[in-house]
Amino acid sequence: MPIQFGNWLDERFGWRQVRQAIFLRKIPKINWLYTLGSATLFTVLLQFLTGVMLTLYYVPTPDHAYDSVQYITNQVLAGWLIRGLHHWGASAMVVLTVLHMLRVIVFGAYKFPREATWFSGVALLLVVVAFGFTGYLLPWDQKAYWATAVGTRIVGVAPVVGDWMLRVVRGGEEITALTLARFFGVHVWVLPATLLLLLLVHVYLVIRLGISAVPRKEE
Ligand code: HEM
Repeated sequence: MPIQFGNWLDERFGWRQVRQAIFLRKIPKINWLYTLGSATLFTVLLQFLTGVMLTLYYVPTPDHAYDSVQYITNQVLAGWLIRGLHHWGASAMVVLTVLHMLRVIVFGAYKFPREATWFSGVALLLVVVAFGFTGYLLPWDQKAYWATAVGTRIVGVAPVVGDWMLRVVRGGEEITALTLARFFGVHVWVLPATLLLLLLVHVYLVIRLGISAVPRKEE
């Protein structure tokens, strides 16, 4: 019965062909460093899952943000675990993305025909960093506040448009409720949507072009 249902679905969606293209590809002899991209992908999924769970209790306003994070950590069932996974997952995502990029550089995997994969990767790296920057403010404690004060000041020293950019990022001259709302909105809507779109392109290109072989001396 399940096989028949599978056939029924396949005749309509063609999912077996899609599965074959994604999971049954021919790959050259490669090594463990080629798993860094998938490891990054795993942290992305972990961040999505734990991030959605955190939003069930987190409140993005100055009078409740700090308390809601304390509540998650100390009162909610396994809240400390979910928050801890999200906290350390964020660092893991940055470290793994950079290591994956270093693998691509060292092995020359950015060369023809994989330039577009590389460019989508650069955009992914920017999104990963932006996730870290916007997420850091959300606990609304002293560390978060002052780190954002410094980070946004850096934006402000850009020539000509610096002042304007500072006001856009902060939602005014100072770090206020507007800044927190802005960072939260970008962290949970703009960046995840952008990341998903870029990942679709990135992974599509990886599947379409096939994985590069380990470079050899004689080549
Ligand atoms: C969220 C971040 C990222 C994720 C989830 C991701 C995911 C992946 C995956 C799963 C692969 C398959 C092969 C492998 O694992 O090495 C891959 C390949 C690739 N990635 Fe990424 N990637 C990310 C960021 C980046 C960055 C920052 C760059 C470079 C700036 C980059 C450039 C590439 C290139 C050029 C390939 C093709 C490698 C080859 O064919 O050998 N990626 N990526």
